[in-house]
Amino acid sequence: TKQKEPELPLFFGWFLLPEEEERIKCATMDFLKTLDTLEAFKEHISEFTGEAEKEVDLEQYFQNPLQLHCTTKFCDYGKAEGAKEYAELQVVKESLAKSYELSVTALIVTPRTFGARVALTETQLKLWPEGADKEGVAPALLPSVEALPAGSRAHVTLGCSAGVEEVQTGLDLLEILALQKEGKEGTQVEMDLGTLTYLSEGRWFLALREPITADTTFTFAAL
Ligand code: A2P
Repeated sequence: TKQKEPELPLFFGWFLLPEEEERIKCATMDFLKTLDTLEAFKEHISEFTGEAEKEVDLEQYFQNPLQLHCTTKFCDYGKAEGAKEYAELQVVKESLAKSYELSVTALIVTPRTFGARVALTETQLKLWPEGADKEGVAPALLPSVEALPAGSRAHVTLGCSAGVEEVQTGLDLLEILALQKEGKEGTQVEMDLGTLTYLSEGRWFLALREPITADTTFTFAAL
């Protein structure tokens, strides 16, 4: 008799505990509120609005995702390459329902996405699939991405602008990291939270002075 294949989820990842979610949302929203009042940001406002004089309320501009998480493997219910192999890894099976503390070291804002960069520990990197950083990356960006350390794409999507899919946050983050590596940083502004850097075409990177930690559970999205 044929055995039924176990069903695969939409994705695996670290999910923030509800109280942590509130704390992170508040802290990051405060940053957005400040960002859109900065002169440096206003100078590049047209990259968000398409018009030079128009104002933008970043809190309204980005729509919040339902549940904050850091995706490790997007499985697409088994349609994604390597989904089954990932789900069957010993380290994945052993880690399900376990607690992990994630460390957010930077925030990114682009006309498309708002995200938090996550610095993975050695233990957490064991759950990061091989090749995940470069999945879906444009060929022109591939060499720069391959030169970045494993796990560079790890992030929590905090918001997307209208019509933009969440997967874009990781791609925006990689683009920013590649530009930084090439030394293409523009204007820098010191803020309470850390140093804000402009990276052309509406891309902003806030390196946090103090990392923001968040308690999470490693599990999968069952929806
Ligand atoms: P992210 O991890 O950047 O937030 P969706 O709701 O669009 O199906 O996506 C579910 C989750 O999986 C989201 O968190 C999303 O982005 C992530 N995701 C979607 N598509 C991909 C992909 N092709 N590669 C990696 N992650 C993806």
